[in-house]
Amino acid sequence: MSLSGSRIVIIGGSSGIGLATARSAAALGARVVIGGRSLDRLRSAAEEIGGDVETRALDASDEASVKALFDDLGQFDHLTVLVPSAPDKSASAKLVNFLDMEPGRFEQVFRNRFWSQVYGVRYGAPHMSRTGSIVLMSETSPRKTIPCYSGSSAAAGAIEALARSLAIELAPIRVNVISPGFIATPGTDNIPAERKAAWDRMAALQPVKRLGTAEEIAQGMLFLMDNAYATATVLDIDGGYRLT
Ligand SMILES: NC(=O)c1ccc[n+]([C@@H]2O[C@H](COP(=O)([O-])OP(=O)(O)OC[C@H]3O[C@@H](n4cnc5c(N)ncnc54)[C@H](OP(=O)(O)O)[C@@H]3O)[C@@H](O)[C@H]2O)c1
Repeated sequence: MSLSGSRIVIIGGSSGIGLATARSAAALGARVVIGGRSLDRLRSAAEEIGGDVETRALDASDEASVKALFDDLGQFDHLTVLVPSAPDKSASAKLVNFLDMEPGRFEQVFRNRFWSQVYGVRYGAPHMSRTGSIVLMSETSPRKTIPCYSGSSAAAGAIEALARSLAIELAPIRVNVISPGFIATPGTDNIPAERKAAWDRMAALQPVKRLGTAEEIAQGMLFLMDNAYATATVLDIDGGYRLT
């Protein structure tokens, strides 16, 4: 891979898929900037990553916080923004069927899964090198979904549509989307037990009969950043879940 020396900004880089991406990128010689809300989490992630790592505390669901980060950061090459739908365990338990969900919850999912990425691109792209790329985060649900995921399905579908427009408008910066299936991460621990049990049942029906790992998604992330001919691509890495 040619990511050695690249500067990669990973908002949500202190855990799960973001941390795995940061670790792999640093191992390839990239300079990594990881962002998240908790300074403690960022510090321990930086220790784990090793190599050339900067840490930045921000709330990516807050526009002013994202703007302040990029005003200060300087030039960089690649960007990804990885904020989960629910900020914690209690919010995750409130993601229920559409008619039973408080409208504010739906809006919160959009703030986390859609607006955080919009803010990242809006304020990050002007500082990116012309050979750089953005990897937006979707999930399998715009193509195959299950109950209780209406907010994240809608936000992910909107992100995939936005990516196609941005791939044209931001060129030569490339814009791709990664779409993971069910991946075991620390964030997965926030999911209520019965929904987690449903994940396990669905994974058992997939061609690859298990949950994915953060490292397997990180490989896809780095592939999309590295491959200079990939743009407007949606990369599904889901163990074949879409076919079940
Ligand atoms: N795991 C899956 O099965 C799966 C499947 C499809 C898509 N995804 C998506 O992949 C992304 C990463 O998921 P994950 O499972 O790896 O999550 P995770 O292990 O919970 O990690 C989330 C990261 O985002 C940071 N974060 C959370 N809220 C933030 C905010 N408002 N502002 C800035 N940083 C914030 C967290 O740090 P702090 O808590 O310190 O802020 C942490 O570094 C998410 O967008 C998720 O929706 C995950």
